[in-house]
Amino acid sequence: MCGIVGYIGTRHAAPLLMQGLRRLEYRGYDSAGIATLENGSLFCERSVGHIDALKEKIGDQRPEGTIGLAHTRWATHGGVSEKNAHPHRACNDSLVIVHNGIIENYRELRAELQATHTFTSDTDSEVLAHLIEVEYQGDLRHAVARALKKVRGTYGVVVMHASEPERLIAARMGSPLVIGMGKGEYFVASDATPLLPYTKDVTYLDDGEIAELRRGEVRIYDLLEQSVQKNIHHIEWDDEQAQKQGYSHFMLKEIFEQPIVFRDAVRGRKIPEEGTAYLGGLNMSEPQMRAVSRVLFVACGTAYHAGMIGKYAFERLARIPCEVEVASEFRYRDCVLDENTLVFAISQSGETADTLAAVREARRKGAIVRGIVNVVGSTIARETDGGTYIHAGPELAVASTKAFTNMVAVILLYALQFGRLKHMSLAAGQEFLQAHFDISTKMEEVLQQNDEVARIAQRYVHYRDFLFLGRGINYPVALEGSLKLKEISYIHSEAYPAGEMKHGVNALLGPELPVLAVMTKNQLYEKMRSNVEEVRARGSKVILIATEGDTDARAIADDVIFVPQTIEALEPLLNTIPLQLFAYHVATLLGRDVDRPRNLAKSVTVE
Ligand code: AGP
Repeated sequence: MCGIVGYIGTRHAAPLLMQGLRRLEYRGYDSAGIATLENGSLFCERSVGHIDALKEKIGDQRPEGTIGLAHTRWATHGGVSEKNAHPHRACNDSLVIVHNGIIENYRELRAELQATHTFTSDTDSEVLAHLIEVEYQGDLRHAVARALKKVRGTYGVVVMHASEPERLIAARMGSPLVIGMGKGEYFVASDATPLLPYTKDVTYLDDGEIAELRRGEVRIYDLLEQSVQKNIHHIEWDDEQAQKQGYSHFMLKEIFEQPIVFRDAVRGRKIPEEGTAYLGGLNMSEPQMRAVSRVLFVACGTAYHAGMIGKYAFERLARIPCEVEVASEFRYRDCVLDENTLVFAISQSGETADTLAAVREARRKGAIVRGIVNVVGSTIARETDGGTYIHAGPELAVASTKAFTNMVAVILLYALQFGRLKHMSLAAGQEFLQAHFDISTKMEEVLQQNDEVARIAQRYVHYRDFLFLGRGINYPVALEGSLKLKEISYIHSEAYPAGEMKHGVNALLGPELPVLAVMTKNQLYEKMRSNVEEVRARGSKVILIATEGDTDARAIADDVIFVPQTIEALEPLLNTIPLQLFAYHVATLLGRDVDRPRNLAKSVTVE
């Protein structure tokens, strides 16, 4: 996730900004840059790679000035390169910006500006610099306010102009910015971490607000340029707490980020009027897409579970035969592939050795190979001939949570896109997107039950085995819930498709084996309900994930976690969250090292 830091005061800005960038490193980044202003002249330097590479690039140049801004970039639009790194300048080299977020209408804006402006990067952010330049008539705050009215999307943006060395302008819409109140100096940053060595008094910008930071004061305005009064908060956090934004673990923070990063994953990728999606990175023409006769997902661990959901979704929505395979098996199997087989390699890190080997094997055999990857510029992203970034931002906890939901989010959009090119009607596509529209709000509703899930976890923490059950598209959800519990609590658990119980697993049921069952209202509800009743009859405690309003659920379970209703294809996006929370709370109650569980690594780069 990109990071921003800005400073105005009486001290030499560059060392403060460089230190700020280092404190933002935990967010993950692929390039960095800095700009300062002295005597009407802008210093600006950018570099791919670590902050040290930027420091080296700056070398003996001495960036002067007591005002400046800096950025760490996690690429979204445009590859990882120096020209795409921030800060971005407009044409006349007087104006410089750093930007977090995504400008959704940047293509249209760029097309309009292209006749009179020279673009030097592939980013959506640079468009904003040129837009502000167009609006600039000697007052930077007015220019920013006017330019932002033309923008659709999200931004946390900080702007500096060579003719206005006495102020920095910052604005927020959907991408956080916090202002640090020092003595005669002010800071602005994407989170509080870079500010903490200098001040713990902060003001959080809200969406639609513009801040003007001067050496003696900070003023905040709304987009209509009316003054807004804000409270100052005193932060008690230390560094690590600040990085976790007040959450006790990165895993919990990442679970709670799911509604936001889900929006990032789907933003600009839906076409409601055509009832379809468009994932440009696929690099396939419509005839090539229609010729796909088989889809194969290869992945490991959590990413494999996302692929299993993909199988259900692709066969249901796109009517294309689909398989999913653990990458470590695929790579050594004599898999039959041809030029009409589309292989998706799914990976958070983009570096998983087995998934990478599967990519190479599939390419060697002539399949079409694409990536569904989180880390921009990672090996799998580079070695596939296209694909889609899931935009989950850096995931630091070893147990994958937000990357999983974003993998599913992207796969579902692919299923829709392929479906609409084949059998799916406009009405069915629109119905899907209609249900899709409020998924992030529904995710927030699920997260509101965190305390209730914590109470339930307390009641079950002493058990040594658990069984997770699901059916249909919720079977992979059960598998994922079970994996989460195993990896962070070290408690044994298994997951089964509930219809399979009679064929052996029923023998395990009894008071010592609690069962978590996903029993939401879909086409398999009645079947699942019978399975749950059978489990209960054999003495196991039952925790249900059930649909809000299901009044029968309490009667057949010991505990119920309710989730909002949605269409079946989208259920995994909601149903997984309580299971992540359950695993988290059980693990913390047992005193486990939740973010760094024993024997596991975040990125498995060896076989
Ligand atoms: C998830 O919680 C795990 N830590 C693990 O299964 C992970 O999903 C797997 O190693 C694949 O990683 P990748 O997504 O980076 O390829």
